Amino acid sequence: MKVSILGAGYVGLTTGVCLAFLGHKVTCVDPDKRKIEALERGEVPFHEPHLAELIELAKHNLTFTTEYAQAIPEAQVVFVAVGTPTGQGGAPDLQYLRSAAHGVGEHLGPHFTVIVNKSTVPIGSGNWVGSLVRDAVEARGASASFAVASNPEFLREGTALHDSLYPDRVVIGADESKTAEVLYSLYRPMLDQTFHEPPFLPRPDRMAAVPLISTDLASAELIKYAANAFLSLKISYINEIGLLAERVGANIQHVARGMGLDARIGTRFLQAGIGWGGSCFGKDTAALVATAAEYGLDMQIVRGARDVNQRQRERVVEKLLAEMKILKGRTIGILGLAFKPDTDDLREAPALDVAKKLIERGVRVKAHDPVAMDVFRRHYPDSGVILCDTAEEVAAGSDAVLLITEWPEYRDLDWDKLAPTMQSPVMLDCRHVLDRARVERAGFKYLSLA
Ligand code: UGA
Repeated sequence: MKVSILGAGYVGLTTGVCLAFLGHKVTCVDPDKRKIEALERGEVPFHEPHLAELIELAKHNLTFTTEYAQAIPEAQVVFVAVGTPTGQGGAPDLQYLRSAAHGVGEHLGPHFTVIVNKSTVPIGSGNWVGSLVRDAVEARGASASFAVASNPEFLREGTALHDSLYPDRVVIGADESKTAEVLYSLYRPMLDQTFHEPPFLPRPDRMAAVPLISTDLASAELIKYAANAFLSLKISYINEIGLLAERVGANIQHVARGMGLDARIGTRFLQAGIGWGGSCFGKDTAALVATAAEYGLDMQIVRGARDVNQRQRERVVEKLLAEMKILKGRTIGILGLAFKPDTDDLREAPALDVAKKLIERGVRVKAHDPVAMDVFRRHYPDSGVILCDTAEEVAAGSDAVLLITEWPEYRDLDWDKLAPTMQSPVMLDCRHVLDRARVERAGFKYLSLA
């Protein structure tokens, strides 16, 4: 099938590359000329494991352009995967969605085209996009045959390709069966898992056909918000229990495992620590609260999850204050800037918030991240954070080190070597990933958030 993808960010690019790998002819459109030129050279504009390799495998089916005119008229399916950042009052800012819909309407060909909302968009956006496209088609005195579908994305950054090729489920929301059927055929090789697995992305053991949820537009839109909000509150729940665990002297890791092995609960997303960051959970929980408010509803649980998440960041400062009494004039090192390992994405990263809070209190902050430092330099040139080339450099002369992103290389640092280089060897493990006994044997005072 001929497919166009609007927006070459995480979601758009991953979707486009996976569909091209499955055999479709895909055109990715993005207004950023430099990004498109880089993609044409096979360079990926962000850090995502295996994406460059999959682009190489699928390049015969991939075209990159900045022009809607080159992408839309021939397409049978147009995915809209543009950004929907948080706008005023927590509701998403829909300016990119609006201009994408307008651009599609201006260039739509005469044949039946399915326009798919892939970005996380507010409930009702399917109808809204449809009306914007219709207006743009009519404005040029043309007629077009199209329908809008919702096909929310559930990929995680860092494992985006794995999540896209081997998903837990595919959700398709459409108000007519004709529309949904176009998407079933598009995804057929993935739903039936009939494609040859890429050598670097093996199919999980016992992977069977992928469950398909076929529903109406509004339900598909709500599924995405409900899923992300649930994952967020699962994390906040374990962090709230962690707070109590600390007071009563319980081990939060054991509590999480003991809870999670109940199949009704599940062990995943119960990793206690500094809480969630990233471009999705904060934005989507805010949007859910804002949407509910439009309908006169107060999403108390989701609001609570957001508050707990924010409180975890404050607790880092509280812990340091309790340990060191005076923060002014201290040097504190941060290990990990990205919002999670295997990405260079800094959006809503807890490390940024913590660094800012510490600098406001007169702390000298040093930091290291295996992949996100270039992005950090570009986006936060005036942050005041001193970037170091190695974790060892972060530790040297510091009064405390905070492990904020659990990159695998931080787990096995040579603690015996690091401790004597520090002003005072204090380690605040904000992710509960270090071997406490080992770190303590090396002479560190080990602290955690629970
Ligand atoms: C999240 C969802 O997991 C995806 O299903 C969804 O498609 C995506 O948002 C989206 O809406 O686009 P992502 O934000 O990439 O994916 O990353 P996650 O792996 O979900 O992690 C989010 C944050 O939660 C990270 O900061 C992570 O460190 C934190 N986390 C995760 C915890 O603190 N504890 C956990 O147990 C799990």
